[in-house]
Amino acid sequence: MMSVAELLEMQKQHTKKTPTPAEILLFYSTIRTGRVQTVLECGTYFGLSAIWAATALEENKAEGKVYTFDGLERDFLFEGMDIEDRIVFIHGPFEERVGEIITLNPPHPWLVFIDGAWRYDANKGYFDAVAPYLEIGDYVMWHDTGTTTRGRGLHSKEQGAMSFRAVNGVGLYQHGISKPQ
Ligand SMILES: C[S@@+](CC[C@H](N)C(=O)[O-])C[C@H]1O[C@@H](n2cnc3c(N)ncnc32)[C@H](O)[C@@H]1O
Repeated sequence: MMSVAELLEMQKQHTKKTPTPAEILLFYSTIRTGRVQTVLECGTYFGLSAIWAATALEENKAEGKVYTFDGLERDFLFEGMDIEDRIVFIHGPFEERVGEIITLNPPHPWLVFIDGAWRYDANKGYFDAVAPYLEIGDYVMWHDTGTTTRGRGLHSKEQGAMSFRAVNGVGLYQHGISKPQ
């Protein structure tokens, strides 16, 4: 298994369309400190965040897996890695296919990582697909909370519910625990 230092080196080599080192450390440490058991990810891309999530689940000795969804299938970076069996790739739109995994009743707490399209309506669709199934303590993390003026990410009611939001970056919400800002 790769160490956090090795993962950070890998992260620095893949700067396009992936979180910054600071953002990915927040993602990784939320999974670790929250003793997350299942990660549901919208937007696999080349699988870098899935590798971080699988490493954190492995370190948690979690019962669950990383379920990562993307409309495009690529040569994933996790192929051949020792954490590969922690990652299940599902080919298709998150909002349409996540229900198939939820039906399997994966162990809580979950972290739902929303890193697909930037548009508000897309982000709302991803959130709405999982919201009815969240349990108290589950996390939802958005990579692109963006700004209302540029029509990106979430805003208004949903952003107000986040316990943490960087200006143009990550937003974090913990179901049943986060208080509106
Ligand atoms: C910013 S990249 C994800 C980066 C990845 N999470 C990482 O950190 O390495 C966004 C990805 O979302 C995918 N995407 C866009 N709409 C989607 C949807 N409705 N469902 C699943 N994936 C989607 C795109 O194909 C793209 O690969």
